[in-house]
Parts: sequence; C-alpha cells; structure tokens
Amino acid sequence: MSNKTESITDVLDHIDRNLDSSVERLADFLRIPSVSTDPAHDEDTTRCARFAAGMLEEIGFDAKVVETDGHPMVLARCDGPDPDSPRVLYYGHYDVQPPDPIELWDHEAFDPVVVEGEQGRRIVARGAVDDKGQVMTIVEALRAWHEVRGGPPCAITVMLEGEEESGSPSLEPFLESHKDELAADVCIVSDTGMWDIRTPAITTMLRGMVYVEVTLHGPSSDLHSGMYGGAVTNPINELTRLLGMIHDDEGRVRFDGFYDDVVETTPEMKAQWESLGFDEKSFLGMIGLERGQGEAGRSTLERTWSRPTCDINGIIGGYTGDGAKTVIASHAKAKLSCRLVANQDPDRIRESIQSFFRDNVHPDCRVEFEDHGCNPAISVPTDSHWLASASSALKDVFGVDALLIGTGGSIPAVGSIQSILGIDSLLIGFGLDDDNVHAPNEKFELTCLQNGIRSHAAILDAFVTKPG
Ligand code: BES
Ligand code: ZN
Repeated sequence: MSNKTESITDVLDHIDRNLDSSVERLADFLRIPSVSTDPAHDEDTTRCARFAAGMLEEIGFDAKVVETDGHPMVLARCDGPDPDSPRVLYYGHYDVQPPDPIELWDHEAFDPVVVEGEQGRRIVARGAVDDKGQVMTIVEALRAWHEVRGGPPCAITVMLEGEEESGSPSLEPFLESHKDELAADVCIVSDTGMWDIRTPAITTMLRGMVYVEVTLHGPSSDLHSGMYGGAVTNPINELTRLLGMIHDDEGRVRFDGFYDDVVETTPEMKAQWESLGFDEKSFLGMIGLERGQGEAGRSTLERTWSRPTCDINGIIGGYTGDGAKTVIASHAKAKLSCRLVANQDPDRIRESIQSFFRDNVHPDCRVEFEDHGCNPAISVPTDSHWLASASSALKDVFGVDALLIGTGGSIPAVGSIQSILGIDSLLIGFGLDDDNVHAPNEKFELTCLQNGIRSHAAILDAFVTKPG
C-alpha cells in the first residue's frame, strides 16, 4: 500500500515536534470565556474573535473581525500557489456553552489544565473539544503548511462563528452579504466526533432542531396554597401534566403530525450501522446507566441518529429556596427542544408544538411561547470525490478506515452553507463520546488534537494531489 502521507512527512513531523506549542496556543484560546448566550460575556466574546483572527494573521492569512447584529464573525482568506487549485472553506465556532454548574468542575472552567487520563494527556476547560480544540486542529494544520511550505497547497477561507451555541441568529444574513468572499468548492467542519480514539469518522447526518420556551400564566398573583389549592388551576401542576402527555407509552412523541414526514431508515443503512459494532453497554455505562430509553422497537443508534425526539431541557417555577413555602405560583415555564430528522419541516413542527399546548391547556391558563431558533436536519452526500479524498487521508493518518456515521447533535451552519452558498460540507471531527461536551470537565484528548491536526494537513494534500 502506498502511503500518501509520505509526500508530506516534513509537514507531519513539524506538527508532531510542535505539539506542545499548539497546546499552549489552545490554552490561550480557552482562557477567553466566550460564552455567547450570556450578555455579561459580550466583551470576552469579541476579544475571542480578535484572538482567533490574530492567530490566522500570524500564519499568512488576510483576517478580519466582521461585526454582525450579534457576535462578530471571523473571516480569513489565503490564496493557494496555483489559481486553478480548489478553494476550501473551513467553518468552526469560537463561542462556548456556559460553564454551569461550576461547582462540579475539578478546575476552573476557563483556566485550562493538562492532566493525565486513561488515554494519555488531555486538556480540560470549557470549549476544549466544542469547538476551540477542534478549531485548533484546523488552524495548527494550516500553521504547519505555512511554516514548512510557506503556505497551504490550495486556496483557503476560514469562517469562525461566535453564536453557534445560541442558535446562529446572525449567520444567514452574514452568508448572504459575503457570498463572494465565501465562495468555495467544499466546506470542512470540525465540530463532531470520531467513532473511538483509534477510529476516525465522517459524519453524514446531523439532526435538526426546534427550540421553544413555553410559559403558562394562571392566577394574577401567587396564592396561598391552603386558601386556593384544589380549587384553582396551578400553572406548575398544569405544565407538568402537559409535559407528561408529550410521550405515549411506546416512547413516541404525540404532537400532531410529528412523524408524518419522517423517512424510515433504509435496510441498507440499518445494516451498515449494525456493522459498526456499537457497544451499547459501554455507551450507557459511561454515563452511569444500564438500560436505554426511547421509542419502542428502535436501536440506540436509530434513536439518536435517525429518529426525531422531544426533550424538556429545563423547568422553572414556584418556590425553589430553602425550606417550605405553601404557595401556588402564578406562572410556570419549560424549555423544550425537538431534534428533527431529514424531511421534517421545522416550522410545521413548531406550529404543532404550539397547538398541543393551546388545545390541551386548562382554560384559566394562558400560554405564551418564545422561540429559540429552528433548523432542519442535514444529510451530506457520501459519493463525492472530496469525501473519497478525505477518507483516504484519514486512513493514512490513522491506519484504519474512516467510518461513515450519524450524530444526534445539530450544527445549523451546515444547512445554511448548503442553501445560501451552495456548498456541501464534510463533517470531520475528533471528539470522543466521553469528552463531556456541554458538561462540567469538558476535555479534549491531546492524541485527538494531534491526530486532528495531522488529518487536516493530510486532507489538504489529498485534495490537491488526488483530485476527482
Ligand atoms: N458540536 C455540537 C454539535 C454536536 C454535538 C455534534 C454532539 C456531534 C455530537 C454543537 O456545537 C452544538 O452543540 N450544537 C447545538 C446546536 C443548537 C444550539 C442549535 C446542539 O446540537 O445542541
Ligand atoms: Zn460545537
């Protein structure tokens, strides 16, 4: 077998020799608390965009921080050696989730530490894998090309978003107004996972999402629960009754028409997923569970990759302080999200969620909705020559075939890049299931960082040396 990475041994060696500096730069990136959803961090988020643009400038890019109605976008471009070379667009996000609950972190969330784990050294901090560590796999690969060869082998555009974790509200207007600068032949996104630490993966399906906040308003003020309890509507009782009605006994979601447009997983796809050898016991064991839960008659991979779901993400209401208070609160609130699969229309699903609450609620309760964004599910083509080149580069780096997988998560940008710019994405990420994404002690294995950097360097080479 001829190993294609032989032609870029110099670039790969440089990556390996400089891994500690890459980790230091990642740590600097992680020290900036760019929590997009929290206005208290607005200045940090802008500072983080400038930091990211600075890194790209350092490695020969023409980089700028572009204001939007929300958090700024980082846009950087670099020409290739040959005007006929392909142009590759990279997308990633520099914003992170809030660190809460902070008391569960072993170290401060924005003071990264490198610690020894079962699988070698790992860096622990909010954003370690989602997505700053993965953005660094791209930036450090481009750095290696710059430092060893004077620049990348083809033209590159890098777009880093600061609002991915809060539903990407400014992304589409930005894409519309920067179409020319963003034109490219293919987009690469590193914001997903591997199959396991030794096996790379290309994700071909992302679920979509509808996120709504539902508030029930009942009595005009809080009431004494002895004077009124049992005789009037209690918004918390009412809300939990409704939330309890969302799923039937078979684990199916009861919003009207919820499954109407869902396409059944093909037998071929089911067979391919079965061949992956998914270890359900360890998937559940890792999170302290033994039994799965969900739609009856579906495997765990089906439930997370190809079936729509509804989860309550938060409930707010009533007295939650110390001790007891006998009160009927005047209102109650739930945050609710549905993950969608291919062919479901997010707007239709949102309407159906609203009708469910309006039609079933007690007449003395008024329902109010607040939208927190929606985006459709995405499938990426599996027969492109880009995917074939990337797969072969991944195989050269890891020594094993890259698997084609689905994921339960959502990345709204992928759909927008496809519909507005007309560019298909390759989802090539280096996270692991136990990385604590969105949770305390988020981490990124340094092996994954290193293999991620090597992979991106090799993929670029494969794009120019083995096109089509
Ligand atoms: N990196 C994740 C998406 C992801 C999660 C991919 C798990 C693969 C596995 C991304 O940053 C994210 O969390 N997206 C949000 C999108 C939402 C805010 C619209 C999500 O999926 O909850
Ligand atoms: Zn992410």
